[in-house]
Amino acid sequence: MDKEILYGQIIAELDALIRDVGEPLANYANTAALLYQSLPDINWAGFYFYREGRLVLGPFQGKPACVFIQDGKGVCGTAFSKRKTLIVDDVLQFPGHIACDTASRSEIVVPLIYGGIATGVLDIDSFRKGRFDKTDARYLEQITVKLLQRCADKTIAEFQ
Ligand code: SME
Repeated sequence: MDKEILYGQIIAELDALIRDVGEPLANYANTAALLYQSLPDINWAGFYFYREGRLVLGPFQGKPACVFIQDGKGVCGTAFSKRKTLIVDDVLQFPGHIACDTASRSEIVVPLIYGGIATGVLDIDSFRKGRFDKTDARYLEQITVKLLQRCADKTIAEFQ
């Protein structure tokens, strides 16, 4: 299926899932599940939240993952500290990559930024090299903004 059409469907489904739900944890959990189930060739999808100088594992789908990532470390910590979406075509070539699932070959990390405050990251891994491109980045950024608009006040209070 065309990537743009697929993301259109995912965003419509996300809207329906979170529209009437004022519970951030439930919304993050459902978003991780929706992305994991909908995107092809994915082996991990989930969130890390920034707490006291490090990223802490949040709701996710996939194999159990490392609980803490220091700010600036790994792909997640680097994307978070730069406040910038990172696409890594081959994780084996990324210095300091943290291998939670040895099957992962490529990765995209989108920082969660709302009202100028970075609260964490969305991390998605694939077992296929070069799985993610600018189209993924654009839509996943839209998805994080939608989620944060729905959850932001409570997220900042609960996860910081
Ligand atoms: N690979 C990430 C760690 C998180 S797992 O992929 C779930 C990183 O290098 O930051």
